[in-house]
Amino acid sequence: MKFHNAIVIGGGLAGLRAAVALNQMNVNVGVISKVHPLRSHSIEAQGGINASLGNHVRGGHDDYKKHAFDTIKGSDYLADQKAATRLTQNAVECIIEMEHWGCPFSRTEDGKIAQRPFGGAGFPRTCYASDKTGHVLLHTLYEQVAKFEYHSEREQIKIYNEWFVTSVVIIDGVCQGVIAMNIATGELEEFRADAVIFATGGAGRIYGKTTNALINSGYGMAIPFHAGIPLKDMEFIQFHPTTLYGTNILMTEGCRGEGGFLENNKGERFLAFYDDSKKAMEVAPRDIVSRNITKEILAGRGFEDSYVHLDLRHLGERRIMERLPEIRNLSINFAGVDPVHELIPIQPGQHYTMGGIDTNINAETRALGLYAAGECACVSVHGANRLGGNSLLETTVYGKIAGESAGEYILSGGPAKRDENIMKDSLKKDEDKINELLQSSGSEKIADIKKELNDVMDSNVGIFREGKSLADALDKVRELKHRFKNLKVTNKERNLNQELINKMELQGNLDVAEVIVMGALAREESRGSQARTDFPKRNDESWLKHTLAYCTPDGFKLEYSEVDVSIYEPKERKY
Ligand code: FUM
Repeated sequence: MKFHNAIVIGGGLAGLRAAVALNQMNVNVGVISKVHPLRSHSIEAQGGINASLGNHVRGGHDDYKKHAFDTIKGSDYLADQKAATRLTQNAVECIIEMEHWGCPFSRTEDGKIAQRPFGGAGFPRTCYASDKTGHVLLHTLYEQVAKFEYHSEREQIKIYNEWFVTSVVIIDGVCQGVIAMNIATGELEEFRADAVIFATGGAGRIYGKTTNALINSGYGMAIPFHAGIPLKDMEFIQFHPTTLYGTNILMTEGCRGEGGFLENNKGERFLAFYDDSKKAMEVAPRDIVSRNITKEILAGRGFEDSYVHLDLRHLGERRIMERLPEIRNLSINFAGVDPVHELIPIQPGQHYTMGGIDTNINAETRALGLYAAGECACVSVHGANRLGGNSLLETTVYGKIAGESAGEYILSGGPAKRDENIMKDSLKKDEDKINELLQSSGSEKIADIKKELNDVMDSNVGIFREGKSLADALDKVRELKHRFKNLKVTNKERNLNQELINKMELQGNLDVAEVIVMGALAREESRGSQARTDFPKRNDESWLKHTLAYCTPDGFKLEYSEVDVSIYEPKERKY
């Protein structure tokens, strides 16, 4: 048995920022991560982090209210407005804090933090470090954690690298801790805690064509869901407009922010053909650009019915090497094209899960002592469509808020009720479940079920959706869940058993996928990233509401809750 006052699950930006906040309150923290923190998916973020510094705004100014409005409008008015405002209000402080911790942001000629335009703002608001912003932020934050890892006058932060959480334990609405498996030995352990923070990232690998790392299985969302915590707005899946054709590696929005063009097979900047993006063109919000690329390909003006071109050639070698060096490397190494001289083949790909574990504005879930932050959570600040650059911001701002909320709860006494027996029972239950999974000797292969899941999500639950194909997708996911019971596991060992982990994650994948499809099918309107061809209009009268999915003994159930529209009246979105 291990005990920490606070346990953080996930070693990415949101998790580490929460751990630092707890450490600053002198609270003892354990961080459990299935990979070393510097392998977390936050490191993949390229183009930047939004804050209204206004470092490039001539003759005008930027402020948190404008940033909040752009975020809410970008969300197609599904974001909770006080939550989005809290995000933008804390943005400048969070950037300055990172700067003071040594984060090497790119600079303007007069030494200020450089900013570039991203979708939805119309001017440079996105702070960046060339095209490695997530990388530098994660290293900066990891340094802050590492200095308290082994030796400190404050309480320590202990990192459990390569531990896999199997369940969260909640009794009578109060969180007691988690059960986790040491991947190296396969042994399960009780982690008792006063408070637990989930910061496990997104669920991109439910799709095949995704920018997400293999670790982004969505299992971190499934664990609290199975324990009775609702998932919110899961139908809203972001498709990034520019992913490299063939591998779907991210080609940052910074390419377009720096002035890159999108071109069809006639060499035309086709976004001009689409009314809704005439003004913003390449830097319209992602849902709009992704839809217009797809329409262009469907109209036969793409290449191989699959991709269009991203043109950076006019930016010149010097600017590309200064602002987009990794984009050049990735294009050369994974597509065999040098963007200095050649066009980059791109297509939209799954990028982000706007929905997640339902939390309030203080990162609290429905269970006392259980919190969530970052991509696995839904506060909701992104609503139906996230603006580029707001994800890194959310990890740091709401990671800190989650840490502070948990810290306050712990320092004010923590859980009134502790139940050690329930922890023991949960460990035993997980032990039995793992033994059952190891013993299964059916005929189905994990890889086949995963591939069929990816295929149906790509084809039926993508950028454009329609009732019949969503209903077919739901049948398919349920069929796969049935076939999951007949899985074969060949490696029966407990130590370093990746096959066992894949199997547990696949179960989470399938459940989260079912929730996504159920939400998409039920929502008979088009809003943000959900474009229903059979319901092409946004319908505020019936659908200005959050979807909540619950795991009940009778199956998954959907309910709905109000959206906070207390600051800006929802209007039609025009760019
Ligand atoms: O395009 C990008 O660099 C991604 C940024 C984001 O998802 O916020």
